[in-house]
Amino acid sequence: SVSSFISRSSSSSRLSEFVDAKTELQDIYHDLSNYLSNFLTILEDSVLLRDRQMLEHLCAFSSRVEAIAKVLSRDRMKVAFFGRTSNGKSAVINALLHEKILPSAMGHTTSCFCQVQANGSDETEHVKVEQEDEHMELSALRELASAHSPGALKPSTLLQVNMAKNRCSILDYDVVLMDTPGVDVTAQLDDCLDSYCMDADVFILVLNAESTVSRVERQFFKDVASKLSRPNLFILNNRWDKASSMEPEMEQKVKDQHMERCVNLLVDELGVYSTAQEAWERIYHVSALEALHIRNGHIKNPSAQTKERYQEFLRFENDFSNCLAVSALKTKFGPHLLSAQKILNQLKSTLISPFIEKVSRLIDENKERRANLNAEIEEWELEMQGEREDLQYCFEELTEMTQRLGRCVLNDQIKT
Ligand code: GTP
Ligand code: MG
Repeated sequence: SVSSFISRSSSSSRLSEFVDAKTELQDIYHDLSNYLSNFLTILEDSVLLRDRQMLEHLCAFSSRVEAIAKVLSRDRMKVAFFGRTSNGKSAVINALLHEKILPSAMGHTTSCFCQVQANGSDETEHVKVEQEDEHMELSALRELASAHSPGALKPSTLLQVNMAKNRCSILDYDVVLMDTPGVDVTAQLDDCLDSYCMDADVFILVLNAESTVSRVERQFFKDVASKLSRPNLFILNNRWDKASSMEPEMEQKVKDQHMERCVNLLVDELGVYSTAQEAWERIYHVSALEALHIRNGHIKNPSAQTKERYQEFLRFENDFSNCLAVSALKTKFGPHLLSAQKILNQLKSTLISPFIEKVSRLIDENKERRANLNAEIEEWELEMQGEREDLQYCFEELTEMTQRLGRCVLNDQIKT
């Protein structure tokens, strides 16, 4: 049935690995921050351990941990979509979102950069120009991001589309989808691409399967490949539903031609994949429009060909999600893990160890003092004992003399 067919579009488990790793790393940084502030209190309260240099050291660690925790909370996986006008970039994103959110129409449509992402936990869904505070409804996209509207924003603007996390799983997994104006329109907008897209973990080139990869698209990807070391590139030959009107034999020929040209681009021209097999696995023939219509229930009885194209779309969705998660784990969390390790080691070697040494030294010194004091007291005790014995002896002698004297006196009395 169609519903079981659609439910197979479950998002990849690797995306959840990214979110789990992020939660765990955030917990570690949170604990580290608590630990540092507790340690700071111990140092400040202790007369014995208070040390200005150490306190300064500790504060520096604290602010480094806070800074990394902030970066960490903002870390998300980013996918950027490129291609000539009307190839279906916005349509692909809408299919991934299971709903027509972004303007998608014939002719030059997307007028500015649109960054689709999950909203903050305490926010409502809204659209917002990056540098401005005003929150607008999602429906404002038709007005702001469509070149067909008089209120369209300039190509250099970044529009943030903040949607509820539970709308679809891809948003729930901290994925950011970047829609761009057609490459032919933005060719002179290098700066925007640099600032909005070069930090993407995965790049998706959306081609029109009815034609072929154009010179502008090639040049654009050459620029991307020259700026990034081996970027993760996927190629979608979109509008493949149009091929269904062809003879099957012709369809295969067109597909073979696309594959050959795309492999050529990825391996020989861009050098982002080293073997044809690797590149082959990154190339897909899909229909974004059909995928969206299947997902939002507009296609009730898909034909065998439609089903096949949808399977291909699912394969694309699964592959790029996995690639995204693996790449984001490596590039985003690797450095944070190393930093945490470095901070812990430094804490151990520059703070904790010297303090333990200092306290151990004080304890040893005290022991020594106590031992010296004990010896002195013992000596004094012995001396006293000697003196007591001497005195006792004197006392006994006196007693004896007294007794002798007593006896003398008695004898005298008797005599008289
Ligand atoms: P710009 O924003 O102008 O750069 O174009 P775009 O690449 O975002 O293309 P868009 O999503 O606006 O799609 C252009 C037109 O093609 C729209 O009318 C879509 O409905 C249609 N379209 C997109 N994908 C497909 C597809 O797979 N098959 C068919 N038949 N039409 C599609
Ligand atoms: Mg568009």
